[in-house]
Amino acid sequence: MAETLIITGTTKEERYASLLPQLKALAEDDAGQTAVLGNLMSAIKYGMNFYWVGLYEVKNDMLVLHTFQGTVACTKIAFGKGVCGYAWKNKQTVIVADVNKFDGHIACSSESKSEIVLPVFDKKDEVKMVLDVDSDKFATFDDVDGEWLGKVVGIIERVINT
Ligand code: SME
Repeated sequence: MAETLIITGTTKEERYASLLPQLKALAEDDAGQTAVLGNLMSAIKYGMNFYWVGLYEVKNDMLVLHTFQGTVACTKIAFGKGVCGYAWKNKQTVIVADVNKFDGHIACSSESKSEIVLPVFDKKDEVKMVLDVDSDKFATFDDVDGEWLGKVVGIIERVINT
């Protein structure tokens, strides 16, 4: 796997489509989960030009900051709190067009305007992590992102469950 990402296309579908095989190649690396997940976060952030991309890991009753790319972030999020805690509690993808309008949103950065959070499941179908993607523009994410980032979560699940 070359270390340089090559993203082609103008629509976000095309960009995700060119990113995905490169994520799969990065996930084949045998250097361990932290190295692989760090590279995946980097590839998503820089490949798609997002503001912040990272994982939070479930540890007891908290989400704890895991591998990420972007500005300094909140390290702990309680069950059910914020967009991340909501996605964990409800075991579902959450798309927020305007973070100011999401009751209980946790503002790690004032630059973050919209976000999407997807649950990442372990082998027992319990939420093991959440994938949080933030944009510095409003209304960045829609069902297209939900679908493609769902495929990305599939790659992450293979990394953490094998
Ligand atoms: N905004 C998130 C917190 C995580 S940061 O955006 C990186 C939330 O409300 O859960």
